Amino acid sequence: MRIAITGGAGYIGSHTVDALMTRGDEVVVVDDLSTGDVARIGTAELIDLDLASDRAGATLGRQLRDRRVDAVIHFAALKRVDESIESPGLYYHVNLASTLAVIDAMRDAAVPSLVLSSSAAVYGEVDGMVDESHPTRPLNPYGATKLACETLVDAVARSGALRAASLRYFNVAGAGRPELGDRTIVNLIAIVIDQLSRGETPLVFGDDYETPDGSCVRDYVHVADVASAHVAVLDWLETTTGHRPLNIGTGRGTSVLEVIDVISAAMGSDIKPAIRSRRVGDPANVVSRVDAIARLTGWSATYDLDATVRSSIEAYRWWSASSPVR
Ligand code: WQD
Repeated sequence: MRIAITGGAGYIGSHTVDALMTRGDEVVVVDDLSTGDVARIGTAELIDLDLASDRAGATLGRQLRDRRVDAVIHFAALKRVDESIESPGLYYHVNLASTLAVIDAMRDAAVPSLVLSSSAAVYGEVDGMVDESHPTRPLNPYGATKLACETLVDAVARSGALRAASLRYFNVAGAGRPELGDRTIVNLIAIVIDQLSRGETPLVFGDDYETPDGSCVRDYVHVADVASAHVAVLDWLETTTGHRPLNIGTGRGTSVLEVIDVISAAMGSDIKPAIRSRRVGDPANVVSRVDAIARLTGWSATYDLDATVRSSIEAYRWWSASSPVR
């Protein structure tokens, strides 16, 4: 297949580019390199385009038509929860305008299949295992924009103009190769690796939750598994119509304290974490049900937490050796 991948120079996008090119698909990356890195896309062609800019849809439509693209995977978006709270207007503009541009371009170029990058953040307050029928009440503008994009894609799919899947990622971590690792240190695993590498003490934001050890539970999924899920869903879309949200996770929950133990063991560190007060907005327990994607596509996660953590450590050390990580 010929696939256009927006945001393909980013963390999850570049892993998906790699997975598709490895199996022989032709890939063109659409990315303005505002946060992505062209070094991540290897030999894939790059279309340097800001999808939130004026006439981006018409420009992209011509590009998709000229290349006779069969499908689009749309990753390009702003994805920081904290930043979305400070700048909600920016998040709504960028995330919705870019999705509208992709939809317009697909219409102009008669491209039938779309995989939309979404997030478990669309669920909002959750307690335990979550399947796709769980109510979607996002707690922050980031999650709200992802839900708005899903709603837009759903309406277009219902009109018969395309077939689509919205993939709701849980906690993504790890690296398929060190050079593809996530250099932003904003999520738990990266933060703790950075702290232990510097001899600093990891901080646990609350140990008084209704969970087995009192710390929050999440579903940590290897980015290489997330990439292979996109490949599986692309193939499945060829056989179906309409729009379907699908959870992307392992189906297993791990607490903050357990994650820190796994990282400390892998790094040979004996620094013990310190307990701090809860972080505002954190649900206690968010774990993915993954029955739907397994039933429809056969996909399931293959990496365990230890492998995910070790690949994150390897990537951190690779980046630290080749350039300042922060
Ligand atoms: C995980 C847990 C913190 C840092 C993510 C992101 C995004 C989304 C899924 C795709 C929480 C605790 C953290 C620290 C800690 N996926 N923590 N000490 O909050 O689940 O959000 O949801 O869009 O990846 O929005 O991920 O890594 O920030 O936190 O105790 O130094 O670790 O309180 O319970 P989170 P996170």
